[in-house]
Amino acid sequence: MTITLYTPVPVPYRRADAEKLVGEKLPAQWAEDKDYTLGAFRKETGALVGSYCLTLISRGVWELGYWAVKDQRGRGYSVEAARALCDWGWATLDVHRIEWWAMAGNTGSRAVAEKLGFTVEGTLRNRSIANDGKPHDWWVGGLLRPLQLAVDLDEDLVSRSVLLSLRYRPRTVAPRETKPRAS
Ligand SMILES: CC(C)(COP(=O)(O)OP(=O)(O)OC[C@H]1O[C@@H](n2cnc3c(N)ncnc32)[C@H](O)[C@@H]1OP(=O)(O)O)[C@@H](O)C(=O)NCCC(=O)NCCS
Repeated sequence: MTITLYTPVPVPYRRADAEKLVGEKLPAQWAEDKDYTLGAFRKETGALVGSYCLTLISRGVWELGYWAVKDQRGRGYSVEAARALCDWGWATLDVHRIEWWAMAGNTGSRAVAEKLGFTVEGTLRNRSIANDGKPHDWWVGGLLRPLQLAVDLDEDLVSRSVLLSLRYRPRTVAPRETKPRAS
C-alpha cells in the first residue's frame, strides 16, 4: 500500500509493467543520461532490498527516489544504498543539487533523507495528485554537492564501491598555466 500511495507506480502493477520498465524504459533512460535506477541486493542471499534512483530534473539537478521491500525495511539498508548512489552521483554526474520529494506525512522517506543530510526546505500545498486520485501536500528537500568530495575523489574510493564502479568518468583538472615572474 505505501509504495502505491507514495510513489508513482502504475496501479494495478502487472508483470508486463515490470518487464517493460526493467527491459526497455530504464536501459533507455540510462543510455540518455536521464535516470539511473539501481536495485540493491543483500550480499549473503542476493535478495532484493529495494530500488534507488537518481533522475535528471534540470541542468545540474537530480532527484533521489527510493522504495524498499517490506521485510527488508528498518535495517538501515535504504540509507546505505541511497548514500552510495548519491556518492556515485557526485563523483560521476554533472550535479550540484540532489532533490528529494515526498508526500507530506511520509515519515519513513523523510527519516532516510534526513539521515543522508538533506535539508527539508518546505511543504508545497496540493502539489500533486497521488495514486489515490487526490491532490496532496509534498515535502521538498535538497542536498548540495559536498565540496570536499570534489577535491578528494581518488581511484581507491571508486574501486571500493560496486555502485561507484558502474559508471565513472574521471574528472581531470588541467594544470594552471604559470607565467614566469617579471624580475
Ligand atoms: C521509506 C523507505 C524506503 C525506508 O526504507 P528502510 O529500508 O526502512 O530505511 P532504513 O532502514 O534505511 O531507515 C533509515 C532510518 O529511517 C527510519 N525510518 C524508517 N522508516 C520509518 C518510518 N516509517 N517512520 C519513522 N522513521 C522511519 C529508521 O528508523 C532509520 O532510522 P534509525 O537508524 O535512527 O533507526 C521504506 O519505508 C519504503 O519503501 N516506503 C514505501 C515507499 C516510499 O515511501 N518511498 C519513498 C517515496 S518519497
